[in-house]
Amino acid sequence: MSDAAPEPKDNMGQPVPRYDAHDKVTGRAHYPSDTPLDRPAYAFLATSGIAKGSITALDDADARAVPGVLEIFTYRNTGGLKQTKFGGGSSTSIQSLGPEIQHDGQIVAMAVAETFEAAREAAYRLKIEYRAAQPTAGFDDDGAQTEAVKGEWLRTGDVDAALQSAAAVIDQHYSTPTQHHNAIELFATTCVWNGDQLTVYEPSQFVYGLRNGVANRLGIDPERVNVVSPYVGGAFGSKSSTTPRTGLVAYAARQLGRPVKLVATRDQGFTVSSYRAETRHHIRLGARPDGKIVAYDHEGWELTSRPDAYSVKGNQETAHLYDFGAVRTKVNVVHADRNTPGFMRSPPVVPYVYALESAMDELAVELNMDPVELRRANDGPRDSFGKAWTSRSLMACYDAASQAFGWSKRDSRPGSMRDGDWLIGWGCATAVYPTHVAAAAARVRLRSTGEVLVQTSAQDLGTGAYTVIGQMASDELGVPVEKVRVEIGRTGLPPSPMAGGSVLTASACSAVMKACQAINARLDGVAPSGAAVGAPGQAASSRPASAGTDHLAQRFRALGTSVIEEYAENLPPGVPADAIDRLYRGMASRIGGGTGEKLMYAHGAEFVEVRVHAQTREIRCPRAVGAFAAGRIMNTRTAHSQLMGGMIWGISSALHEATDIDGTRARYVNDNLADYLVPVNADIRDIDVILIPERDDEVNIAGIKGLGELGNVGTAAAIANAVYHATGIRIRDLPVRIEKLLQA
Ligand code: MOS
Repeated sequence: MSDAAPEPKDNMGQPVPRYDAHDKVTGRAHYPSDTPLDRPAYAFLATSGIAKGSITALDDADARAVPGVLEIFTYRNTGGLKQTKFGGGSSTSIQSLGPEIQHDGQIVAMAVAETFEAAREAAYRLKIEYRAAQPTAGFDDDGAQTEAVKGEWLRTGDVDAALQSAAAVIDQHYSTPTQHHNAIELFATTCVWNGDQLTVYEPSQFVYGLRNGVANRLGIDPERVNVVSPYVGGAFGSKSSTTPRTGLVAYAARQLGRPVKLVATRDQGFTVSSYRAETRHHIRLGARPDGKIVAYDHEGWELTSRPDAYSVKGNQETAHLYDFGAVRTKVNVVHADRNTPGFMRSPPVVPYVYALESAMDELAVELNMDPVELRRANDGPRDSFGKAWTSRSLMACYDAASQAFGWSKRDSRPGSMRDGDWLIGWGCATAVYPTHVAAAAARVRLRSTGEVLVQTSAQDLGTGAYTVIGQMASDELGVPVEKVRVEIGRTGLPPSPMAGGSVLTASACSAVMKACQAINARLDGVAPSGAAVGAPGQAASSRPASAGTDHLAQRFRALGTSVIEEYAENLPPGVPADAIDRLYRGMASRIGGGTGEKLMYAHGAEFVEVRVHAQTREIRCPRAVGAFAAGRIMNTRTAHSQLMGGMIWGISSALHEATDIDGTRARYVNDNLADYLVPVNADIRDIDVILIPERDDEVNIAGIKGLGELGNVGTAAAIANAVYHATGIRIRDLPVRIEKLLQA
């Protein structure tokens, strides 16, 4: 056991090393773009140099003259590709290569050649003329169209009256910037046709979704498409939906009659996939002198593209976070000439919790109250809508993290804690993520030798899906984890939902659990001597394999077989009866969060120390402590890693990351890893992750809440709150950077 592999506590699994670790470090793991191919052709994208307007002339003579060029695909010869609807698994409705241009960096052509270099040369030699119109880059630019998102908003009580009568009121605006995922693995697609069967090698968070997405673009039966994605080199939401490139590469491969491989460049990745849109928030909080909140009013604005009304609506989650009394929520989208945004780790809660937890800290200051005690004063068995939680360990997280951090030594006066030239600030905030579970299916095979094969389409984004799925089978069947083989990451396997929304572990493991239980029931049906001991499922002993290999072999002999294989589907209560059919069609059916009779959420508390230089305003974050509760923890190593990585991303969100946008051209200007700031090792010091034991039998049959997206929620607010504590300066616009402190 070590920091990276913490000792399991109650309801936590062993820190089994990653199933895929050896293959990854030895280079045996084939990421989709590593797939060996027979006579591949190489593709290179050309993207638009304007954000709005149209192509008026396209001269590809020079491009075609490059030796080795096979074809130049443009809007003129890709008319056979169908347009698919945004929202049905497509990341954007902007799919055509022109002539209309709807955002900077829109794909306008794809050159395909015998070599990568020839394809790139050809793409650079394309001569494209545009008629450019003035684009709208963001919220404050001419032409921005604000549209109230329609729907049922969470509202209760009389917010205005409650605010009028409140002893303390916070009325503030907060904002967050555009961010891009920048997974280390680039956006790659390889398409291979074998007769009328298409195989797509592409890193994907949802192989069945991608299969249907590309089939729809080609207008073919999804049964003819296979998606292979055994390893994904980071995704964070950017590989969840079908992006326009996949249909284009498949189309090109069919036209050329040979495999076509595309790896978009780092800068192209900023516009050919999605991103986290900038948001704005207006929050009003009212409270009694004792800290009890009586009103919470939260209106959000989210930037989106011209045609697609994408929004994350995180106040539908924050509205359940405390017992607020009166609540009013509303969201607006603001249309501009940008590519369509999309999921990015903890999409709804990251911006909205940042805003709320900043306001909470301001309220604590206003009330002269400890921020932890303010949370305690508003923690209760029910939310403002009268709903109870299946489990809620928020204050247990606060108590454990604050003790580990040494919070009691904090002098609450801003600027009061100092180490030479460095002003010390301590801040905290809540982490929260809705617990969802989706329908899933799995097949498990147990041999008389004790060897196990588990199959489900589940995708591993580097998170540990292989490992925890294998552990579930090992636990249920009572066989050592070394004997479990896990096959995931492609269509053709029983379907799992998207590895997104922190839903995969609970969903896939529930299906694996059911399949294993069915195997146990069959084995339990026979006593080791061979005599039947009752109907399957009624026998007392589960986990029959754990009694040892000889014992297991005897039972198999009694059954007259060497293999038992069970296929199981898990349909959580409330999902449609045809949820598995829907999964095959690329649609996940899920329940949970704030939508049901009871609230299902994972919680955490994060504490950070910042040091701000008194003269230069340089900001450092030497330590962060987070405590998290998320039901059953399958593996303390992978859980620790996800939560630690999340907190690092939270520090990045608070202090580093922002995509800079040229307001005149509506163009991303820092579209590379040199100028797009992310923390390096020197920026990240002590990160302490505490796993809080929690049992919850109501969230799903496996008792798992999921935590892939919990860790980076709340960190940014904790840091902004700590910066206030250090300096007395409240920065309400992320990221918090030196220049903002100097200008304040
Ligand atoms: Mo996550 S943004 O749901 O991949």
